[in-house]
Amino acid sequence: MESNFFDAAFIDGPDRVDGKAKVTGAAKFSAEFDLPRLTYGVLVASTIAKGSITALDTKEAEKAPGVLAIITHLNSPKVPGYDAGANPVKGPTGGKGLQVFGDNTIYFNGQPIALVIADTFERAVYGASLVKSQYKKEDHQTNFEEFKNTAAPLEGQRYNDYKRGEGDVYKYAPVKIEAEYFVPIEVHNPMELHATTVVWEGEEKVKVYDKTQGIKSTQRSIMQAFKLPEENVQVITQFVGGGFGSALRTWPHTIAALIGAKKVNKPLKLVLTREQMFTMVGYRPQAIQKIGLGATPDGKLTGITHEAFSHTSYYEEFTEGIVNMSRFMYACPNVLTSYKVIPLNVSTPTWMRGPGEATGAFALESALDELAYALNIDPLELRLRNYAETDPQRNVPYSSKFLKEAYQLGADRIGWKDRNPKPRSMKEGDWMVGYGMGSGVFGASRGTAKASARLNVDGTLLVQSAVSDIGAGTATAMTQVAANVMGIPSKNITFELGDSSLPPGPTQGGSTTTSTLGSAVHDVCVSLQRKLAELVKDNSIFHTTNVHTVKLEDLVFENGHVALASDRTKKISYADVLKQNSLTQLEAIEESKGSEDMRKYAAYSYSVHFVKVLVHPVTGVVKVDRVVMAADAGKIVSEKTAESQLIGGAVGGIGMALMEEGVIDHRYGRWVNNNFADYHVPVHADVPHIETLFVNKPDPILNPIGAKGMGEIALIGFAAAVANAVYHATGKRIRQLPITPDKLI
Ligand code: MOS
Repeated sequence: MESNFFDAAFIDGPDRVDGKAKVTGAAKFSAEFDLPRLTYGVLVASTIAKGSITALDTKEAEKAPGVLAIITHLNSPKVPGYDAGANPVKGPTGGKGLQVFGDNTIYFNGQPIALVIADTFERAVYGASLVKSQYKKEDHQTNFEEFKNTAAPLEGQRYNDYKRGEGDVYKYAPVKIEAEYFVPIEVHNPMELHATTVVWEGEEKVKVYDKTQGIKSTQRSIMQAFKLPEENVQVITQFVGGGFGSALRTWPHTIAALIGAKKVNKPLKLVLTREQMFTMVGYRPQAIQKIGLGATPDGKLTGITHEAFSHTSYYEEFTEGIVNMSRFMYACPNVLTSYKVIPLNVSTPTWMRGPGEATGAFALESALDELAYALNIDPLELRLRNYAETDPQRNVPYSSKFLKEAYQLGADRIGWKDRNPKPRSMKEGDWMVGYGMGSGVFGASRGTAKASARLNVDGTLLVQSAVSDIGAGTATAMTQVAANVMGIPSKNITFELGDSSLPPGPTQGGSTTTSTLGSAVHDVCVSLQRKLAELVKDNSIFHTTNVHTVKLEDLVFENGHVALASDRTKKISYADVLKQNSLTQLEAIEESKGSEDMRKYAAYSYSVHFVKVLVHPVTGVVKVDRVVMAADAGKIVSEKTAESQLIGGAVGGIGMALMEEGVIDHRYGRWVNNNFADYHVPVHADVPHIETLFVNKPDPILNPIGAKGMGEIALIGFAAAVANAVYHATGKRIRQLPITPDKLI
C-alpha cells in the first residue's frame, strides 16, 4: 500500500460536487437531451397476462397526425443478438430475456407489444391509444399464495440446499421458535422515470443516453444485441435520479428505443410512464420464508433452518440471496437453508434495495427477536452471544469486522439500556412506545476498474471513469479520494463520469463502487505521484549532504506540492514541477483490481439499526419516531454522502416496513396500485431525523483505501428493527410486511 490513505485526515469535507447542478436543473438526465429532429416513442402494453396476440390493428394509429412509424412483432426488424441480461438466466427464452417484438407470445399483463413513434410526445401518446389488439387468452397465474403448492419450477432449474452440521437441529433445542414471514412485491419507484434517448449515426453506430447503473454493461448489452463493435456504441448517463437496482439491467424498452430510432432514422426518446415502471423494469419479488431457530437456555444458537420460496417470470429465472445471511451471520454449528422460485405470469423481478438479503434479513432478524423474548435475553445480548469471530460458512478470518463497535455506538446513542424491555410497558401520551433493533450485513467486494488522471499545469486535476452515479455521491467520493492522495483541494479536482468512452468503471450496484473505483482512483493518483517523483528526483531543492537523488518514499504530496518527508519546508508545487520540465500536463491511467489474497478472507460490511416507534392503540398507526444507524463500512471516504446513504436506507426501510406493497388483481393479472397515489412511499412527514454513526475503521485487506461498502447495509435489517419495535410497543408480532394499521387493530 503506497499511500497513507488510512490515516489521512480529510483536507476538507466537500458538499456534493454535483449538488449545484442538481438543484439548479443544470444536471441533465436521460430524458432531457432535446436533440434536433427528435422523435418520441410510446410503448403500448398487453392487456392480458397470458396467451398470444392474434391480431394487431394499427391502421388508424398510422393515420393519426404526426405518427411516423409503429413497430410490432409483425414488422420489427430482428435484433441479431438479443441479450437483455446481466443475470445468467434460464427459462424458455434461453437466458435472453424478453425479446421485445420477438413474437406474439404474451407472458404478462403490461408486456410491450407496440412502439408508436411520432414527431411530438403528445401525438405519440394519442397514436398509441389507437392501437387495437386481439388475443387468444389462456389461463394465467399471478397468485403466488394460491399457486405455490402446485407450481413447477422453470425447466432446467436446480436448487442447492445449504447444510452445515446436521439438518433441522432447532426442532430438538431446549428453546426454539418457528415462524413464517412474508415480504410482498415492492417496486423500486425512483423519482426519475426510466428513459432512453437514441441517436443512430448511419446503420452501425449509435449513441444512447440511457438511465443505467452500469454504463459499460449497457454498452455491452447493446453491442451484443445489435452485433456492433465497442467503438460504435456510446452510452451516456450523466445523472441518475435514483435507481435502487431497477437500472442494473438493460431492459426491453431500451432495445425497443434502439429499434425505433433506427426505423425512423431520427433521434428518438422513449420515457416509461409511472405505470410502466411497475411492469418493465423489475421489482422486488415476494417471498415466503420459514425460519426455525433453536438455542440453549443461555442463548447459544444450536440450529438455524431458513427456507425461502419466491417467484420469477415465465420467461426468465431470477434468483437472489434471500437465505444467505442465515449461513454466515451468526456462529451456529447447524444450519440448513433452502430456496426455490416458481414462475408466474408477471414480468421478471430484479435486485431491489439490499436485494434478497434485505428480504432475508427481515425474517432472520425478526426471528432473532422472537427467540430473544422466548429466552428472556436482551435482543442485543443474544446477538453478542452468537457473534461470529470468524466466518462460519467458509471458516476463514474476516478481512475486518467491527460490528461489536457498531452495536455499542448505536445502543449508547439510542439509550437501549434505558428502555423497559417488557412489551406494552412504555407510553408517551396516548401512544404506545417501542424500541427495536436489527442488524444488516452484505458482502464487501472489489471488482476491476480503470481510471485516468490528468494533472494540469495550473494545479488542477481531472479524474475520469465510465461509471454512473445513482445518487450515492460517487463523484464526490472519488473527488475526495483523489484529494486525499494528491493533496489537492477538492475544489481543484473534477471527477468526470457517465460516458462509456471513458476508462471502464464498475456497474453501480451491490455496494461495490467506492471499494472498486475508489481503489482505481487511488492507484491512478499514486501513479501520478510516481511520475512526479521521477521528475523531481534530481531537483536540488531536495538535496541534503548525503542524498542527491530522492525516491517516491522520501516524498509527501500535500497542499499541491511535492515535499521532502523529512523536511516539509523543502517543497515544490506541482505546477512548478510541470513548468520546469516544459510539460503542460501529466497523465496516468491505471487498472485496479483485488488481489488473490482476498480469497483467504471473508469480507462484509455491517450495520445495526435501532428504531423507536410510536403506535396508536386506537388507529394502529405506526410512526417511526427515532432512528439510530451505526455502520461498519470500513474507512468512510466521504462522510456527507455516506451519511446520505444511510438516511436513504432508512427512508427505504420505513417504506418497506410500513407502506410498500405491490398489489395485483389476480382476475386480470393486472396491477392495482401502479401509481404514486396508491403505492405508498415515505414522505418527509413519515421520516424523523436520522442519526448516523460510523465505526470508520479501515479494512486493511480489501483495498488500498480501506473502504468496504454502504449502499445495501443501509436497508438490510431495517424492516426487522421496525417490526421488532412494533412488537415491543404492542406485544403484537407482525410477520407480514408492510405493517399497516389493519394488522394492529
Ligand atoms: Mo443495488 S439493489 O445493487 O442497485
